[in-house]
Amino acid sequence: MGYKIAVVGATGNVGREMLNILAERQFPVDEIVALASRKSQGTEVSFGDTTLKTKDLDTFDFTGWDIALFAVGSTATKEYAPKAAASGCVVIDNSSLYRYDPDIPLIVPEVNPQAVHEYKNKNIIANPNCSTAQMVVALKPLHDRAKIKRVVVSTYQSVSGSGKDAIDELWNQTKGMYVPGQEVDPKVYTKQIAFNVIPHIDVFLDSGDTKEEWKMIAETKKIVDPSIKVTATCVRVPVFVGHSESINIETEDFLDEDEARDILRESPGLMVIDKREDGGYVTPIECVGDFATFVSRIRQDVTVENGLNLWCVSDNLRKGAALNAVQIAELLGREVLKKG
Ligand SMILES: NC(=O)c1ccc[n+]([C@@H]2O[C@H](COP(=O)([O-])OP(=O)(O)OC[C@H]3O[C@@H](n4cnc5c(N)ncnc54)[C@H](OP(=O)(O)O)[C@@H]3O)[C@@H](O)[C@H]2O)c1
Repeated sequence: MGYKIAVVGATGNVGREMLNILAERQFPVDEIVALASRKSQGTEVSFGDTTLKTKDLDTFDFTGWDIALFAVGSTATKEYAPKAAASGCVVIDNSSLYRYDPDIPLIVPEVNPQAVHEYKNKNIIANPNCSTAQMVVALKPLHDRAKIKRVVVSTYQSVSGSGKDAIDELWNQTKGMYVPGQEVDPKVYTKQIAFNVIPHIDVFLDSGDTKEEWKMIAETKKIVDPSIKVTATCVRVPVFVGHSESINIETEDFLDEDEARDILRESPGLMVIDKREDGGYVTPIECVGDFATFVSRIRQDVTVENGLNLWCVSDNLRKGAALNAVQIAELLGREVLKKG
């Protein structure tokens, strides 16, 4: 006997990817439903070799459904996730709405799988921000060995992290650059994204950090260790899929770059590609469609006592969202629901 699964936001970037990944990983599904807004009712989405017709979330009854994978943004999540959870369906949510609620576990299965049992508090589990998810997969094994004190991270985040309208904006703006009269003004972003980089993701806070930067700080503390100090600069770049991060780590104990490379090679969810030669590293285009988080450019930072630098790349729609959500569902199945 398998699970009854609802994919909420099935017409979006993350929702479609969740359907792909459930099929690819042969998640034990007995019944699956694709949900989105009323305007998408009847829209066809793929689930492996089959096609599902999208249904209206607003009129859907979650009673009797085991797990709902939500990817609809905070506003719709606020309205519908509590209803699903109250009807006995476990919600795994991709929005930021519940991530900082102390009663709701925030999970990256390679890092803090033990937190899954806290799902009982509200029948909801939160999925982290895309830039946090890939970073903590790389940080955790190094933290276990040498105790990370401080992290300085700069991100290079793709436009798919801002939803499907942002993908269109980059595509149309890029084409428009070459066709006189078809220039496209910024709409999703505050400045032109084609052939540009924008050091601004999410809203500005009083501190001068953006909310995206704050999320990386708060989520790393919640998932890995509250004692880790993190400072982040999050930047949007004209890449369709795949987030990259330059990560500088300061540890309590000395950690040699070769040992760090070996540790990362052995750790779950990671793939080390680190040859000190032309092309001996991973770029975002190469990670698209992959399950792994890739680490390259592992090297000592000799400007501090115990420092390391690394380059971390992952498919933000996968590890940063859909894959992590499906991994949480697998964990929940294995540890708690035990069907299939
Ligand atoms: N993209 C990433 O890398 C990433 C990473 C981590 C987390 N997330 C989070 O995942 C969520 C979805 O992101 P996305 O990139 O997939 O967005 P998206 O491509 O814009 O898709 C949004 C989805 O939500 C549905 N939706 C929106 N409002 C709705 C409502 N009121 N009722 C029912 N359905 C509604 C849309 O349905 P219609 O097509 O019918 O409008 C669509 O299926 C967001 O919370 C985002 O922050 C995204």
